[in-house]
Amino acid sequence: MPAASSRVFFAIWPDDSLRAVLAALAREVARETRGRPPAENNVHLTLAFLGEQPSSKVEALRKLASGIGATRFGLTLDEIGCFRRSGVAWLGASAPQAKLLALQARLALALRDDGFPVDERPYTPHLTLARRIRASIQRSLPTPIVWDVSSFALVASELGGAAPTYRRLAEWPLSAS
Ligand code: 2AM
Repeated sequence: MPAASSRVFFAIWPDDSLRAVLAALAREVARETRGRPPAENNVHLTLAFLGEQPSSKVEALRKLASGIGATRFGLTLDEIGCFRRSGVAWLGASAPQAKLLALQARLALALRDDGFPVDERPYTPHLTLARRIRASIQRSLPTPIVWDVSSFALVASELGGAAPTYRRLAEWPLSAS
């Protein structure tokens, strides 16, 4: 029986080879910060977190996402930092990534128009590399990671086990130009 509601978010998801690179970096950063790396399959970069949504709203999210016209882009990630208050170490970008911000802004606008709750705080793109960190970290990556972002996904987060399980519900390709 389908769930009556799900905790959902939009994200970009790495392909297998990039996921392996990011997961290796996450293990390294988790060691350095004495934190916990995410499970390899869970590595992602969030665009918008929606929280618990009833199934009817999840359908509305699918429709809304299919109308987002955005183009494929290269995302340069070159900086490791942390949010000490939430105990998260992350991979981010030292320079604003215009195309990523444009995709996120389109999504946030469409979500607001449809009455979905959107975080009012400025979007701070980050890919979580470690949680529950016990030491700060701030450094540049010697070689930036360039991610060819060709799609975005709607993801359900299932809590309950030791780590959340993330299930991609649907994915939309970004156009070539
Ligand atoms: P995080 O990696 O910094 O924890 C699923 O939980 C995804 O949504 C994670 O990437 C998480 O970011 C992000 N997220 C953003 N706002 C959130 C919130 N209020 N609660 C849980 N996750 C949130």
